[in-house]
Amino acid sequence: MATNETSGTDRQPIVELSGVGKSYGNIRALHGVDLTVSPGEVTCVLGDNGAGKSTLIKIISGLHQHTEGEFRIDGEPVRLGTPRDALARGIATVYQDLATVPLMPVWRNFFLGSEMTRGRWPLRRLDIARMKETADQELRNMGIVLDDLEQPIGSLSGGQRQSVAIARAVYFGARVLILDEPTAALGVKQSGVVLKYIAAARDRGLGVIFITHNPHHAYMVGDHFTVLRLGTLELSAARSEVSLEELTNHMAGGAELAALKHELAQVRGVDTDVLPEPSELPSASAPAP
Ligand SMILES: Nc1ncnc2c1ncn2[C@@H]1O[C@H](COP(=O)(O)OP(=O)(O)O)[C@@H](O)[C@H]1O
Ligand SMILES: [Mg+2]
Repeated sequence: MATNETSGTDRQPIVELSGVGKSYGNIRALHGVDLTVSPGEVTCVLGDNGAGKSTLIKIISGLHQHTEGEFRIDGEPVRLGTPRDALARGIATVYQDLATVPLMPVWRNFFLGSEMTRGRWPLRRLDIARMKETADQELRNMGIVLDDLEQPIGSLSGGQRQSVAIARAVYFGARVLILDEPTAALGVKQSGVVLKYIAAARDRGLGVIFITHNPHHAYMVGDHFTVLRLGTLELSAARSEVSLEELTNHMAGGAELAALKHELAQVRGVDTDVLPEPSELPSASAPAP
């Protein structure tokens, strides 16, 4: 059924945002954000709590509409009404709270809402054999090996469940995959599992938007890094332009950290030596308006 053709040379961006912003009434949650997602690339969106990451992906996934700037898909300016509109254009989102039915088998969850059937009405029924076989094949194609697709999806580890969700999006024809903090609730090993399948989706030619507040996770798979701070763009850099250390410092918010360190140094029982020296931090960026 669905396939993802990858030509390798086709590097036209799928998603482009320029100067995009979003206000909720009087609250300006996001302002002046540029972002590009191309096939076969991972774009990481980083930022602290309240930075605007969720607002940004809600715009791209069709949950909310932007109130400033331009959002283009395949070069065409768009304004998406619903997540269904986004999906129709190949933008699939894997949310943190995965929409799965924990007690149903893995293969059943793989096809949830898009079941394969055989026969004609009134004799039409679920094509269980074909669904099991397809789910098994698709998971293998992504390098995901599960002992038994009959086991309830709730019995899988967090990392494995995320992987099934990624494989599912790939199978159903996603061109852009948005992952909202997929490693946030996971331990080191499970995070590694998810990072591996992010790379696998990229290698299948998808454009991946990977939202995280962990610069180490981002740097392991990222081609491009977008750091948000207080709703504005703090950094937008290609991998070749930024080191892991610089990325970490941008995340930490250089100038603010220096001020905090100074303040904390006055407090007894706080070891400020564990914080980086101001000289190790990137030059303070323009403060958010
Ligand atoms: N529906 C909403 N109504 C009003 N303000 C919102 C809404 N959603 C988010 N915000 C505000 O927008 C800012 C960015 O939030 P969010 O996008 O959730 O950040 P992040 O996902 O990076 O933690 C925050 O200040 C938040 O309070
Ligand atoms: Mg969020």
